[in-house]
Amino acid sequence: MLELRDVSTRYGPITMLRGVSLAVAAGRIACLLGPNGSGKTTLIRAILGIVRPVAGTITFEGARIDRLPTHEIVKRGIAVVPEGRRVFPRMTVEENLRMGAFIEWTPADLVERRERVFALFPRLAERRHQKAATMSGGEQAMLAMGRALMSRPKLLLLDEPSLGLAPLLVEQIFAMIETINRSGTTVFLVEQNARKTLDIAHGGFLLQKGEIVGRGSAAELHASDVVRHAYLRT
Ligand SMILES: Nc1ncnc2c1ncn2[C@@H]1O[C@H](COP(=O)(O)OP(=O)(O)OP(=O)(O)O)[C@@H](O)[C@H]1O
Ligand SMILES: [Mg+2]
Repeated sequence: MLELRDVSTRYGPITMLRGVSLAVAAGRIACLLGPNGSGKTTLIRAILGIVRPVAGTITFEGARIDRLPTHEIVKRGIAVVPEGRRVFPRMTVEENLRMGAFIEWTPADLVERRERVFALFPRLAERRHQKAATMSGGEQAMLAMGRALMSRPKLLLLDEPSLGLAPLLVEQIFAMIETINRSGTTVFLVEQNARKTLDIAHGGFLLQKGEIVGRGSAAELHASDVVRHAYLRT
């Protein structure tokens, strides 16, 4: 569904991603593990066309997207839960969800899609008129996911959704990611929480200093020395 081939990006004189190649198959949960500053968010931004590759290609469902404007990429069926969640603090839950909508939808579309999100996250329905700023971290995480799901994406990119959440909430968020995946959405999950991530991912990639240094099934990653030493401490 998604394929990066030899993708490199730069921030000024510094090459950040260096020859990154990876593929995500339809229907899967693929993960990208990597330490702080390894280029995980940069990779998400490259997929979305926010950071332009200086070399390499990105294809989605067989067509190149690396030259398209971000809104065209999103329209093809890619949505993101950005790093730090980035809900609109002064807007209510309903208003935040509307920000995940496309301009051409009818009001009826909007309501129908919103109700589907509420069915998945009943907590958001209860709080539909509450301002996002006053919601708990876990609720904001749900809201950011709900907003991304408004467009019914084929591919959902999640940039460290568990960051800063208590263990119980992390469990819930990961369970929701599995539910979303079972409903047919392909997931690309960027995380530092390797243990939890490898519990739900089918397979994935390990990024270090802008380069892919490991790849394989979840079991293979779990067993690999580099993952065990860097992330699992076993
Ligand atoms: N706009 C920018 N201009 C210059 N350098 C940048 C820019 N954005 C990121 N960088 C640098 O690129 C490197 C990778 O950043 P990136 O945000 O992709 O890492 P990350 O893996 O997402 O890290 P984290 O786990 O902390 O979120 C870092 O050294 C960062 O300082
Ligand atoms: Mg990041």
